[in-house]
Amino acid sequence: MYLFKRKDDLRRFLTSAREKGATTGFVPTMGALHQGHLSLIHRARQECSLVVCSIFVNPTQFNDPADFEKYPITIEKDIQLLTATGADALLLPSVAEMYPEGPGTPGPRYDFGELETVLEGRYRPGHFQGVGRIVHKLLDIVQPQRLFMGQKDLQQCLVVKHLLKLIGSPAEMIICPTLREPDGLAMSSRNMRLGPAERNNAVALYKALCYVRDHLGGPTSLPEVVAAARLQLQSAKFDIDYLDVIAVREDGAVLFPQAPVSGLPMYAVVAASMKGSPVRLIDNLLMNG
Ligand code: PAF
Repeated sequence: MYLFKRKDDLRRFLTSAREKGATTGFVPTMGALHQGHLSLIHRARQECSLVVCSIFVNPTQFNDPADFEKYPITIEKDIQLLTATGADALLLPSVAEMYPEGPGTPGPRYDFGELETVLEGRYRPGHFQGVGRIVHKLLDIVQPQRLFMGQKDLQQCLVVKHLLKLIGSPAEMIICPTLREPDGLAMSSRNMRLGPAERNNAVALYKALCYVRDHLGGPTSLPEVVAAARLQLQSAKFDIDYLDVIAVREDGAVLFPQAPVSGLPMYAVVAASMKGSPVRLIDNLLMNG
């Protein structure tokens, strides 16, 4: 695997590969890689002749400075994993390389519509502008044919799909399934920050989503099912930011239906942290289809 710290070096490498007919698949990450990330690399490997990954803990998408400071960094291990999984190139830039203008300098303003004010957008103001800003920069450098991202960050996938339209990128977005631990907890870099007791308890998040899936469409109304799932999660000592059922329209808009809808994918979505824990976890589960 080739490792690039400078974007211009990667650009030159990719131009020459494209001239030889390569199809580029891109997997952007913030490192602290786990099997979920590696499944994206595997998928890209199956579909593209050149697989590029980036590791960059992007300061502009952290609305909470403490979350940025504590974000896990495991670069040596990440490089080994990427090499073993068959990535061809890794971009590992510094903050100055990605933000020569300075990360504190205001960037472009992207119009993500309501996606920016609901769910994650509501609880993490500015987060999606930061995601948009870095993904835009990365796409400019890599110019992939295909972009691979995980369903675990469902709203981020919707935002990035919207970004592709806004900036006229021809990249095709491939949303890959969430990988789970044997007990059902969604794989996440943030799980590394959980203590053993918290880690055991964290499965309550997945159980709440399964509860919603298993009871939706039955005699209990959707709002009542969601209310019962919230109670379950609260009994497991979680403070909930949101636990909702959404439907996603073809154009990426998010609806909050009061009853199951047919013809649109519906997801139970959750964000919560255990009482006294600084680690905020998110997850989602497809309810139909
Ligand atoms: O999901 C992530 O790891 C990040 O939000 C991303 C897409 C790499 C942008 O920094």
